[in-house]
Amino acid sequence: MSKTHLFDLDGKIAFVSGASRGIGEAIAHLLAQQGAHVIVSSRKLDGCQQVAEAIIAAGGKATAVACHIGEIEQIQQVFAGIREQFGRLDILVNNAATNPQFCNVLDTDLGAFQKTVDVNIRGYFFMSVEAGKLMREHGGGSIINVASINGVSPGLFQGIYSVTKAAVINMTKVFAKECAPFGIRCNALLPGLTDTKFASALVKNDAILTAALQQIPLKRVADPSEMAGAVLYLASEASSYTTGTALNVDGGFLS
Ligand SMILES: NC(=O)c1ccc[n+]([C@@H]2O[C@H](COP(=O)([O-])OP(=O)(O)OC[C@H]3O[C@@H](n4cnc5c(N)ncnc54)[C@H](OP(=O)(O)O)[C@@H]3O)[C@@H](O)[C@H]2O)c1
Repeated sequence: MSKTHLFDLDGKIAFVSGASRGIGEAIAHLLAQQGAHVIVSSRKLDGCQQVAEAIIAAGGKATAVACHIGEIEQIQQVFAGIREQFGRLDILVNNAATNPQFCNVLDTDLGAFQKTVDVNIRGYFFMSVEAGKLMREHGGGSIINVASINGVSPGLFQGIYSVTKAAVINMTKVFAKECAPFGIRCNALLPGLTDTKFASALVKNDAILTAALQQIPLKRVADPSEMAGAVLYLASEASSYTTGTALNVDGGFLS
């Protein structure tokens, strides 16, 4: 009996935003391990280069590219570069997001509101538009949006961030419906509390962590690597009949 090739990504080109650390880095490593050429991206090129070098040292294929997804011109430039260098894109993982202000919703700062919307909504949207156009030319692809459990159950003092994550879940359905005729699938991953720099204010505070763990049936925080398997499923042929879904990887938090 031979092993399944359902999870193979040989010959695929994958773009992962926010891949210089945390969940994005774990995703980049697993997609590369399964055979994809991974375009490792974030705002700062040096962090991406380190991840790309580690992938290459492990025998994989990777390229580092800087892109601030809150800047439309940078998104357009990066996709012009992908067209020139690769001529195609098979997998987009929209993972980079921002959450600049923890406060009561009534204290939301206009600048923080705008930044969160620009990165988490406009960034994901136009990354998907550019990727979708390229995927359409080549018969399809898979877009994976890293949303959050906060998109379903808002996190305390994370108001506008939670609103943008709810928008990402809806955006996932929009792209799933309208891009299905082009062979493009679009799904969302909803991580629970995961041990990264992003969540350090929560994970490193004993009182907050203890309260959070009470709401998580598995009674622990996730490791970033525990998000990557779900993304591999959504990126690969294993999920060929799955589109428009939101996959909770949250230790049971939303159950
Ligand atoms: N950690 C959690 O508990 C948790 C829970 C639910 C959902 N999530 C979601 O998971 C995703 C990844 O979070 P994480 O915890 O892995 O965060 P992280 O460890 O802080 O990593 C964030 C990554 O995004 C990049 N980045 C930040 N702003 C960017 C921008 N405007 N444009 C491009 N890249 C940008 C960062 O690199 P640069 O600084 O070089 O740009 C870095 O590579 C996010 O969508 C987050 O909302 C996380």
